Amino acid sequence: MKICMIGTGYVGLVTGTCFADLGNDVICIDKDTNKINNLKKGIIPIYEPGLEELVIKNYKNKKLNFSSSLNESVKKSDIIFICVGTPAKKNGNGADLTQIYNVAKQIKKLISKFKIIVTKSTVPLGTGDLIEKIISVKKRKKLFSVVSNPEFLREGEAIRDFSFPDRIIIGTDDNKSNKILKNLYAPLISKGAKYINTSRRAAELIKYSSNAFLATKISFINEISNLCENSDVNIEDISIGMGLDTRIGSRFLRPGPAYGGSCFPKDTKAIISTAEKFKTKLSIIKSVVKSNENRHLLLLKRINILLKYKLKKKKICFLGVTFKANTDDMRDSSCLKMIPFLLKKEAIINYYDPTGSKKELSKYKKVSFSKDIKSAVFKADLIIIHTEWNAFKAINFKSLVKNKNFTIFDLRNIYSSLKMRQLNIKYYSIGQ
Ligand SMILES: NC(=O)c1ccc[n+]([C@@H]2O[C@H](COP(=O)([O-])OP(=O)(O)OC[C@H]3O[C@@H](n4cnc5c(N)ncnc54)[C@H](O)[C@@H]3O)[C@@H](O)[C@H]2O)c1
Repeated sequence: MKICMIGTGYVGLVTGTCFADLGNDVICIDKDTNKINNLKKGIIPIYEPGLEELVIKNYKNKKLNFSSSLNESVKKSDIIFICVGTPAKKNGNGADLTQIYNVAKQIKKLISKFKIIVTKSTVPLGTGDLIEKIISVKKRKKLFSVVSNPEFLREGEAIRDFSFPDRIIIGTDDNKSNKILKNLYAPLISKGAKYINTSRRAAELIKYSSNAFLATKISFINEISNLCENSDVNIEDISIGMGLDTRIGSRFLRPGPAYGGSCFPKDTKAIISTAEKFKTKLSIIKSVVKSNENRHLLLLKRINILLKYKLKKKKICFLGVTFKANTDDMRDSSCLKMIPFLLKKEAIINYYDPTGSKKELSKYKKVSFSKDIKSAVFKADLIIIHTEWNAFKAINFKSLVKNKNFTIFDLRNIYSSLKMRQLNIKYYSIGQ
């Protein structure tokens, strides 16, 4: 099939490349010409395991192409996936759909034969109706359909998630579009993926409800870990004990810092705002947002206690700064709230991240990037394990850190407290 992805970010680039790998002719387009030029040279704009090889292979095979010309690419394609950003509005009230509507207005001018317009971007329920309204021109009504196909991939595991999805949700009541999309996804369905056809609005709401539920699970276990800390119980026992109940499941039941990333923070707020438009209160999700927004304060209080409220000139090293491992995504990473607080208290921060230095942190004079783990921890008074990269799971801290009085604060519980005690290392974790 001839496919065009509008927006070549985490979602557009990964899904476009994977569709090409299934034998479709795909054009990934982006308004960022720099990104497109780099992709044509094999330079991948994001860190995603396995993606580079797949992009290069399919670009060479001419199944995957890149372009900055929306007009030409849309004209050539039968299925158009909208994969642009839907960030939170500046006032924090709901999703900013400017990029979506801009794309819809551009597409409107280009329809001369039947096209399926699919929103892969996460959009509030009712957005498909609005896109349809924008594109509708009386005599062209039968020349397009607008379908919702929310994306569930996780950064860091995106290619696997595309290839083996739990489910594929197609929101449309147009039989022709449903048939074509089922055919597009046939190679994944034959490997066991469940294909579900719902109304467009239901598909839009499935995505938000799923993200809000996962965010709730994380905040829930984070709050239970607070209780464990105050009651001499090990959260790891609770996670295992609860997770073995198949009604609950063990995933997203590990405590840590506040949830972050490009989805949960904005999507939890957006579903609350959508519900308000439909005169519905989502009190559970509201408390989740509040709990998550306050989480960094709790962790900072613990840091204060660990350093005996003397943060001035203390050398604090962050191992990992992205919102989770196996991605370079800094959006809403919890360290972006913690670091400014520590700097205010005149601590000196350095960090190491396997995906390199971050522009989000380069504006701070007292924050420096170390090129490897060894130089990052060498002079540290406090080491904060912020993300759970494999590279951080077997560090010989005793031999690497010069200051033998150092402390470790492990926000991901990747080390054994017992082993650390045996090694005589001052080690603190979450909920233990
Ligand atoms: N990142 C994830 O893990 C993930 C997972 C599932 C769903 N989503 C959703 O998918 C959507 C995209 O997320 P993302 O992380 O890929 O965003 P992103 O910011 O990485 O990529 C969006 C891209 O769209 C481009 N763009 C914007 N307007 C354009 C236009 N008019 N023409 C061409 N290109 C344009 C931008 O330049 C950018 O490269 C969001 O709605 C997000 O919530 C993201």
